[in-house]
Amino acid sequence: MTSEKGTYYITTPIYYPSSNLHVGHTYCTVMADAMARFKRMAGYDVMFLTGTDEHGQKIQRIAEEAGITPQAHVDGIVAGIKDLWATMEISYDDFIRTTEDRHKRRVQEIFKKIYDAGDIYRGEYEGWYCEPCESYWTDVQLVDGNCPDCGRPAEKAKETAYFFKLSKYADRLLELLEREPYFLEPETRRNEMIQFIKQGLEDLCISRSSFDWGVPVPIEDGQVIYVWLDALSNYITALGWPAVDGTPGEDDKFNAYWPADIHLVGKEIVRFHTIIWPAMLMSLEVPLPKKVLGHGWLLLSGGKMSKSKGNVVDPVKLIERYGVDALKYFLLREYTFGQDGLFTNEALIGRINADLANDLGNLLSRTTGMAEKFTGGLIRKQTEDGATATVYFASSEPERGDVEISDLVGDREAPDLELIDLAVSTAGKVEKCMDEFAFNHALEEIWALIRRSNKYIDETMPWALAKDEAQKARLEEVLYNLAETLRIVSILIHPFMHYTAAEIRKQLGIGDTKPEWKDASAFGIVEEYRTTKGVNLFPRLDIDAELEALNALIPGGADEAEATVPDPGKTETRAEAGELAEDAAEAVIQYKPEIEYDVFDKLDLRVGEVAGCRRHPNADKLLVFQIKMGGEVRQIVSGVAGSHAPGDCVGRKVIVVANLKPRMLRGEESKGMLLFADNGDRYEFVTTDAPDGEQVT
Ligand code: MSP
Repeated sequence: MTSEKGTYYITTPIYYPSSNLHVGHTYCTVMADAMARFKRMAGYDVMFLTGTDEHGQKIQRIAEEAGITPQAHVDGIVAGIKDLWATMEISYDDFIRTTEDRHKRRVQEIFKKIYDAGDIYRGEYEGWYCEPCESYWTDVQLVDGNCPDCGRPAEKAKETAYFFKLSKYADRLLELLEREPYFLEPETRRNEMIQFIKQGLEDLCISRSSFDWGVPVPIEDGQVIYVWLDALSNYITALGWPAVDGTPGEDDKFNAYWPADIHLVGKEIVRFHTIIWPAMLMSLEVPLPKKVLGHGWLLLSGGKMSKSKGNVVDPVKLIERYGVDALKYFLLREYTFGQDGLFTNEALIGRINADLANDLGNLLSRTTGMAEKFTGGLIRKQTEDGATATVYFASSEPERGDVEISDLVGDREAPDLELIDLAVSTAGKVEKCMDEFAFNHALEEIWALIRRSNKYIDETMPWALAKDEAQKARLEEVLYNLAETLRIVSILIHPFMHYTAAEIRKQLGIGDTKPEWKDASAFGIVEEYRTTKGVNLFPRLDIDAELEALNALIPGGADEAEATVPDPGKTETRAEAGELAEDAAEAVIQYKPEIEYDVFDKLDLRVGEVAGCRRHPNADKLLVFQIKMGGEVRQIVSGVAGSHAPGDCVGRKVIVVANLKPRMLRGEESKGMLLFADNGDRYEFVTTDAPDGEQVT
């Protein structure tokens, strides 16, 4: 298919089929689906890819525990995932499974190509090995030196493995991230990745021999390809690259859609997509994706969203109760892209009642109800002096001719003007929001129009007009304006809630016409409506009763401590980092007891700049910093040698507890303390751009 606008290739991460997906997973897919639908409506030739990442030790172990083969295990879960996407009418164009032949053969070819480019070498992998579990673990993963799975002691062990020369690409990656801000958003993630690279990139172990559920390394038996190399490749293998079949047109899709416009990913896997993936592509001499967008996580109150505990919000239960569109609307409207958000049952019910039942549902039922009562459901476009009334366009679209809103002034009543103006200009505002992936703002714009329309009903009082025969034309005009606005709303919400959009069109009597984005900025294009009062789109919920029912169905949405999670974006070293989302979401912060303000106020926090830094002569874990604050340079000792090389610290801005009593640390004086954020396996600088010496309040 060719399109004037060109192509648009959007991907979601491919999900681990370790168990059924929870509502957090649907969040990303719902965003990708909305964007894909929006771009299709806007005229792009869209390719929307999703799928499943089915290899790896974890899946193998789960299957073994269940007494089935890994393939049987993933087949079952993937069928469930596909059912879920079907229920939610996720409009993907392709679903790739990493266990499919079309993928595996190409991953092997990719491995060979990188090897032939001289970027893969054979070496030794060293880690903590748990013999009973046959698993390697990193320092961070160990729990008190023991295997995190079985609790038995792990031993340092080595095995032969293949390595990818990631370090070779460090400079190019840094340049990419520093010079091309568009490549990775939000900005905070980009800064994290820049720091991560600056700390030095090590070569990456890309094969494993301790388990066999993976794509075999093509050049040596007994090794499987590292699951992330396997998984990341999906974005091009699904497009038929590299061509391995020898069939004509095998990589046509690659030629048409690559490079991807957007890789939409959760924040904890940004690093894989902006360091490993581009480095692989650089080695393969394949163009890089245009953009990686890292979204935040949905957290449960109590921090309990965890597949392993089985304590997650099951999207199917929500859909059964409220319908697909209510869930999609909630996910897209409630959360801000890039930030974490708390999932609560109260918020869900609140949105359904306020935005969907009150605003949108009411607008439709009031309009069709009044039309039925006052005009028998027939709403005709009013003519002026016998001529067909004008079609109005947003002033941003002068090329479409006819009349701009500004020409209307004087001819129409004030509420009509306001309504029509807003109606034709909302599409443009939505487009701007969508450019920024600000789904919540896009929906806010649409709801501003919906609310304006409800206000229009109150202002024009059609029930009063209906009592006066002389006002017949005005009554029809008012109803027509409402119907036109609803038609526009049906187009605007289509990418986000297509069932509702279709129902609105059906009730307006235009169900057999296709919603086209361009028609959202034109007012007056339908000659007549024949409305029917159909189903109530979103019946109002009894909040207390609903909450009770929902709290019994959906855990964690009710009470308890607020959850928050550490951000593992830049430092985790796990082979399968996606597990982190789950683990981290479980982490409930145990805060220290409350303090009075005056206790806090005693702290003198200052901005400092690292003027010098060296290793402590008598303690491996300590660094000795020289910190410049205003005119003064003072020495502060800090236990961050495991996280930072002295040379990398110089020039960094830090936050200093400046009035802490000096003390001697292994023979070195420390006059104050530096603040670092504990990021699991390392300490991160807490930093600022403010000048040194300034107070932090
Ligand atoms: N298989 C890898 C991705 C490979 S992509 C080449 C993986 N899978 S995953 O199933 O663990 O996670 C898939 C996506 O779901 C990630 O982007 C992750 O951030 C997202 N989410 C998992 N839990 C989530 C929430 N609670 N909230 C929002 N997104 C969450 O990682």
